[in-house]
Amino acid sequence: MDLTGLKKIDVLVIGAGAAGLMCAIEAGKRGRTVVVVDHSTKPAEKIRISGGGRCNFTNIHTSPENFISENKRFCVSALKRYTQQDFIDLVNRHNIAWHEKTLGQLFCDESSFQIIDMLLDECDAADVTIKLNTEISNIIKRDDDGFDVTTRTGAQWTCSSLVVACGGLSIPKIGATGFGYQIAHQFGINVIPTRAALVPFVFDPDLRARTGELSGISVDAIVQCNKKQFREGLLFTHRGLSGPSILQISSYWNEGDSITVNLNPEEDAFDLLKAAKGENPKQAVHTVLSRILPNRLAQMIAATHGLDRPIGETGDKALRKLAMDVNQWALTPSGTEGYRTAEVTVGGVDTNALSSKTMEARDVPGLYFIGEVVDVTGHLGGFNFQWAWSSGWSAGQVV
Ligand code: FDA
Repeated sequence: MDLTGLKKIDVLVIGAGAAGLMCAIEAGKRGRTVVVVDHSTKPAEKIRISGGGRCNFTNIHTSPENFISENKRFCVSALKRYTQQDFIDLVNRHNIAWHEKTLGQLFCDESSFQIIDMLLDECDAADVTIKLNTEISNIIKRDDDGFDVTTRTGAQWTCSSLVVACGGLSIPKIGATGFGYQIAHQFGINVIPTRAALVPFVFDPDLRARTGELSGISVDAIVQCNKKQFREGLLFTHRGLSGPSILQISSYWNEGDSITVNLNPEEDAFDLLKAAKGENPKQAVHTVLSRILPNRLAQMIAATHGLDRPIGETGDKALRKLAMDVNQWALTPSGTEGYRTAEVTVGGVDTNALSSKTMEARDVPGLYFIGEVVDVTGHLGGFNFQWAWSSGWSAGQVV
């Protein structure tokens, strides 16, 4: 396409990520002229890095309960109209081999590039034009119908539908910006305050001094915060805590909140310690604990409580206190690693301003918001991509 002069097209999609490409494919299939612009030099960078390079592209158990939003029902319509099975069918049509890893999470057997190639092939087949390295400098709502959109290099499009698919703020290094929120503000649309989610916690220097040496240790844990709980792996890091259970709970965590961690949901540490005291009073407390926890973790917990005496010389009260740190460890992270490493952004374009069926802004005909830029955030496990596919597909039927 010639980049000079005003080009009249039907649909301009901003953001060549998961949601934007899905929307473009669907609109293209309906015969609409579609251009997708992205400021990055490559499309779908987040798909590339997702799922450790294998893209956890959906979850077979996807349901509205897997999403966080000020309006919990908003995602229902799109998730019903374009389901996980619909996306699996698409993947199957492209002969991409996949497997279920755990908890319904579906991954490519080979590489996330297969999902990107699939979307780009579909774009080709639907005559979608993708313009990379393209930054938008100006968007104007026309009096009659549609929008005039200008790029930094002076290219101009006039389109009847403008689709904002710029994603959230996580991982600025690979192109995340707040541009979608800026567009919402421009058109008087509320944005629910954002925060980094699916993100590791960091500790203050004191706690870090105690736990830093545990870096690399992982356990199966239950983590609770604000009446939510997740049971999955937990990983000690140099800076604090990570692992699936921690990433999940981070989406419900606000600055200053404490979390409770059960480091061994299968065992009651006090029962174990009490029984061991009766059986063999000479053994060290950490030796007993190491039956149910990794050795270094057992040593750290015993040392924190100053329990270096044989268990027989340790009172039940002290054992009970120590057991609390195994089954109900209460701690307050000093923060998260932030958008630098967060997988997603909680908050975003207020769903009250959008149609849940089409994603169109109620008060700005022709303007659509899809994917992560919207205040709909999935749990860890393929739900965020499913939201991108479902919301993108829904808008793609009408733009
Ligand atoms: P997405 O971020 O994919 O795309 C937005 C696009 O807009 C980008 O191409 C960007 O360059 C472009 N853009 C931004 N600002 C712009 C501007 N000013 N002008 C033009 N273009 C602009 N989810 C999941 O379900 N399974 C998984 O395995 C993973 N794994 C994972 C790993 C990591 C490391 C991260 C960071 C995230 C995940 N996710 C995930 C989350 C998932 O990647 C995310 O929710 C979706 O990619 C969101 O899709 P969108 O299309 O909405 O935004």
